[in-house]
This record gives sequence, C-alpha cells and structure tokens, in this order.
Amino acid sequence: MAKLALNGGKAVRAKSKAKDWATWPVSDAADAKLVAEITKSNRWSYDGPIEWDFAEKFTAYQKAKYGVCCANGTVGIQLALEALEIGAYDEVIVPGMTWQATAAACADVNAIPVLADVEPDTWNLDLDHVESLITKKTRAVIVVHLYGCVTDITKLVKLCKKHKIHLIEDCAHQHGTFWKGKGVGSFGDVASFSFQESKVISSGEGGFNMCKTKDLFYRLYSLRNCGRPYEASPVVFGLKKAVDISTALQSGNYRITEWQAAILQGGLRRLDKQVKGRDANAIYLNKQLEEIDGVMPMRRRKEVTQQSYFNYSFRIDPKELKVTNAQFCAAVNAELGLGYGFEAPYEPLNMCGLYKPRTKVRHKLDKEYWKALNPKRHKLPVCVDAHTKSGVTIHHQLLMNKKKDMDDVAAAVAKVVDNIDELRKNKTKKTRKYTALAD
Ligand SMILES: Cc1ncc(COP(=O)(O)O)c(C=O)c1O
Repeated sequence: MAKLALNGGKAVRAKSKAKDWATWPVSDAADAKLVAEITKSNRWSYDGPIEWDFAEKFTAYQKAKYGVCCANGTVGIQLALEALEIGAYDEVIVPGMTWQATAAACADVNAIPVLADVEPDTWNLDLDHVESLITKKTRAVIVVHLYGCVTDITKLVKLCKKHKIHLIEDCAHQHGTFWKGKGVGSFGDVASFSFQESKVISSGEGGFNMCKTKDLFYRLYSLRNCGRPYEASPVVFGLKKAVDISTALQSGNYRITEWQAAILQGGLRRLDKQVKGRDANAIYLNKQLEEIDGVMPMRRRKEVTQQSYFNYSFRIDPKELKVTNAQFCAAVNAELGLGYGFEAPYEPLNMCGLYKPRTKVRHKLDKEYWKALNPKRHKLPVCVDAHTKSGVTIHHQLLMNKKKDMDDVAAAVAKVVDNIDELRKNKTKKTRKYTALAD
C-alpha cells in the first residue's frame, strides 16, 4: 500500500487544513485607516509626507545613509546603474541565479550583464568566480542577497575596492538582514529593494534605492522624478537643495503614490518582529532537517546577526536519494496540503524562459554587443545543479507559522526520505511556475 500522500497515502497534514497555514501579504486596521485618510486628502502623488517619513525610517532601519522610493525593484536596479553612470558596453557582473530583472536592468541601460556562478551552499555569488570575470570593461558587481542567505559582504566590498569597481546590492529579498549589525543595502554604493506583493515589505508594487553619498541621492532623486532636481521641498535626510539644480537629468517617471507609502509604513512597523519570527523558525527547522539523511540546510555565515527570508531553502543530495528536487518537492507538498509549495530555485539565467535580452530590438547596438548579450555563453554549473537537481525552496510565509507547524514540515521531509524507494517510481517534471507571487 502507498505510504506517500502523493500516491494516495495518509498525509502528514490533511488538505482540508490548508487554511490553517499563514498567508501573505498581511495588513491591519491602521493601514486601512491611513489609506482612507489619504483618499480624502489632496495629497495622492509623490513626495508626500507619508512617503518621505517611510523613506527616512526604512533607511535608518537598514543603517544606510540616504534612501528614496521608486516604482519597483527592476527600476531600482536600472536607476542604480544610471546613477553610477554605467551604460553602453560597460560590463556588470551579475549572479546567474536571480530573478531575471537583475540582469535585464543591465541590458536596459545597454550594459553587458556577465553571469557569475554561485556558491553551492548559499546560492549567492561565488566571489572567486566573480574575480576571474573582472576585465578592463567591468564597472560594477551586482550582488543579490538571495532567498535567505548572504555572501561574504566584507570580502566582496574589499574585492570591489581592489578593482575600483562599484558595488550595487540587489536587496529585493532581504529587508531586515543584518551583517555584523549593519543592514544590507548599506554596503554598496547603491542598493535596490523591491516592494512587490511577495516581498517581506510590500505595497503590491514598489521599490527603493539606498546610497552612500549626497551626490548619489541627488541623482537617484532626479532619475526617479523625470529628471527634476531635488529642491529640498520637503527637506529630507537634512539635505539642502542639490548644489547644481540648474541642469536636469534625462529620465522618466518612476515614482510611487502616497497610498503605496501608507501600506509600506504598516509593513515597516511589522517588519522587525516578522523577520525575527521567521529567523527563529528557520533556525529551528534547519536543526531538524540536518538530522535527515540526504537533506542539507543552507549555510548561515557567522557574521549574519539577523537573517531575513524571502524564501526558505534547503538542498537534497540527489546522488544519495536518487530522486530529483522536482520529485522531492511534489512529494513534500502532497504531505503538507499548503496552498502554495516547495519548488526548485530560480532558473539559471543562461536557461531562463523569462531572460531573453535578444528579443528586444533596442538592444541591437551592433554585432559584438548582440553576441555579448547571449545568455548561453555563460557557464553556470552550480546554478544549473541547484535548479535541476538539488535545490528546494519555498515562500517566506511558511516561516510565519508556529513552531509546531515547523515540526510538520520536518516530519513531511523525513517521511519522504523514509519512503524514497516509493518516490523513485514517480516521475515529476518541473516545479517552478511563473506565478504572480513567485517573482
Ligand atoms: C532578486 C530580485 N531582484 C529584482 C527584482 C525586481 O523587483 P520588482 O518585481 O519589484 O520589479 C526581484 C523581484 O522579484 C527579485 O527577486
């Protein structure tokens, strides 16, 4: 008789109990009240008091210097590149495992995204590979603090200084992560955050840039606001008018509204407690998973003083278990009856269905550039292995449940491993879908 729920066996947790799992996004009565107040006011658009109050508080929380809201995380990366005057034919090193936006934004400023492989146990940039890819044309590295791990930021900052290249942090996944007590987003010249619905602070859509210097702030402000110079109205971060406000920059409209800012205020109020709760559950779950044969939690570096999670991840050993991550995820999902599920991590950008820079005519600068844009020229064995064989990941809402729910998750994983012979007979293909929540 079948043991696994996938094959009709009794599940660790019945499907009918799906509603007992925590869901995302969340909001409260104070959010709704503020939204209603804005609706009745005459301040709906950008540069409003709620937006700037949020920007100052969020920047202070991450222990960064300056910050400004923008339309979304994709635009945030584009504006970071433009603020640093990175453009045509400049090379930018980007991890091969990330949401496509990190690389697509480089192509959108006519730079050349150069894809680097990742560490097998964090899926963050492999810094030795990064260094080997640096050429005379390299202008920046974009580090993505992926899912629930960070790379060695101290080492990366030194590497960028040594080679005199910029560091951009893509923090779309990790609002609330601290490295030796300092927030991510405070290490790079410029950082970008996403507030898309799935992210740990969300306004449905939205983004944010942090930066280290006044000049970069002035540029980022202008770039998100049709090129308009910062006029110190209102005064933010104690900054006076930009020194030279006579020359506007060429740019578009990448602003947010006061309604979005209202929802962000609520998200920020709840953030610290939520991040700490997820982190405690992740540590608790990791301890249980490391006891299971063929299952390996991700590596947490000792310098991480608080870890925020966009996704919770772990790895299986496909050689030992003789199944793929796709088979494994399907089996665990069937045991838990979640409304969402475990899946493979991002498709590597050299085989990603949504990273197709050569489908845009505007990228046809010349033959050399066109060739350089071909994602397939990059070798990313660790990314490919994680996506096709060993990586398992799930949205952070899983970690917003109770400790006893983590026991169910560990029990489901253990049960699948105990019945791995049965699972080997099930053939499951891909697990990753392009759902709205899964960016
Ligand atoms: C790592 C990473 N970078 C950038 C982005 C882009 O953010 P947005 O969806 O707000 O444009 C995302 C979005 O999912 C992301 O996961």
